[in-house]
Amino acid sequence: MWEGLLPSQPIRFPADFAWGVASSAFQAEGGDVPNDWVEWARRGEVPPNPGNGFWERAEEDFRRVAGLGVRHYRLSVEWSRVEPERGRFDEAALDRYRAICDAAAAAGLVPWVNLFHFTHPCWFAARGGFLEPANHGDFLRYAERVGRALSPHARHWHSQNESMIYVFGAYLVAEMPPGLRDGEAAVAMTRTVLELHARTYGILKAIDARNRVATIEVYMDWHPEDPADAGNVRAVEHLDRWYNGAYLDALATGVLALPGREPVEIQGLAGALDAYGLNYYNATRIGPSGVASWSERAGAPVDAMGRLVHPAGLERGLLRVARALPGTPILVTENGCPTTDEDFRIRYLAAHLAALERARRAGAPVEGWFHWTAVDNYEWRHGFSDARFGLFGFDPRTLERTPKKSAHWLQSVISRGILDPADLP
Ligand code: FCB
Repeated sequence: MWEGLLPSQPIRFPADFAWGVASSAFQAEGGDVPNDWVEWARRGEVPPNPGNGFWERAEEDFRRVAGLGVRHYRLSVEWSRVEPERGRFDEAALDRYRAICDAAAAAGLVPWVNLFHFTHPCWFAARGGFLEPANHGDFLRYAERVGRALSPHARHWHSQNESMIYVFGAYLVAEMPPGLRDGEAAVAMTRTVLELHARTYGILKAIDARNRVATIEVYMDWHPEDPADAGNVRAVEHLDRWYNGAYLDALATGVLALPGREPVEIQGLAGALDAYGLNYYNATRIGPSGVASWSERAGAPVDAMGRLVHPAGLERGLLRVARALPGTPILVTENGCPTTDEDFRIRYLAAHLAALERARRAGAPVEGWFHWTAVDNYEWRHGFSDARFGLFGFDPRTLERTPKKSAHWLQSVISRGILDPADLP
């Protein structure tokens, strides 16, 4: 199954390669916060989220993660904690996020703070969310408030996580709140997320010019189900042009040129990028039978969410970003797999680190790699299930953490700076 996917030679990583782990506020913290996902869970659309205890245990989690040799920690801020009602900022929540950044630093980890990872406060959703241009100022006011509270406790910022998946998931395919299926809304939101990135970039830079600001997109490696069907091929090309091509070109040039639409210039976007965060999990096939995971190999390994392992998509994505955004440093800001089988996880990681290395050798300026995630957490539509991405598991009663076999494996890769195929299960 894994033949041809795993590295056959030792891979040596540069001494300054940034090893990180990634998490998001709501997925790790959970709890009864006033946001739209909690509301969706109440309505039975998604499972409820008790969290994994990170909000109270960040300090100990940082020590554990640092013990693996990891030096970077990606986290996000839950807007509904910081601004539970419109215009009322909760200073205690801001203090906690500041303490979290400081605790990361004290443990030897560089905190990378993301301002938007899918969830909105209920008050914002009730006012029409991002679809209503008059509401954009609410997000920017929140971004400024958090920027002022956490600079210089954090120097690395992400304006958004996977904004295009958010656009498609929330406005085109109804898999995230507000659950729309509306092509025009998705087009409008493509422009909105880019505008918000540009303005957030400006805000964070004005607070402190030393802030390093990036955005994060998950690379979707789209394939037609039937490459002999011209209509299928065209539809996938259109989708790819929208999701990947136009988005990357807009970041490079400041002009958003969606297929079949008039190009629009987005103020402040050109040059508003200090690094690019690329997330990657798997490849996707679109066609007459719908949307499914894709691999060209018969019998490719399958994870606990039914996704086929396809590391070549990571290599392709990194090279594409490197071509589209010349000179911009790239970080793989999420990569990992849902499984309860530790041998599977280790092989998945080795296969993807090998793909990353191929892209680096071909010239993609990849500065680091963040594992998704540190401690098992809530996976949006799957809740707490076998879709476990963590290097650490936890006991749901005591919340006590236990390192998995993959944590020990990663620790040895980082400490030696070498991924040795001889160490693979
Ligand atoms: C990514 C999301 C992240 C997590 C992983 C598994 O697309 O950014 O929140 O759910 O998938």
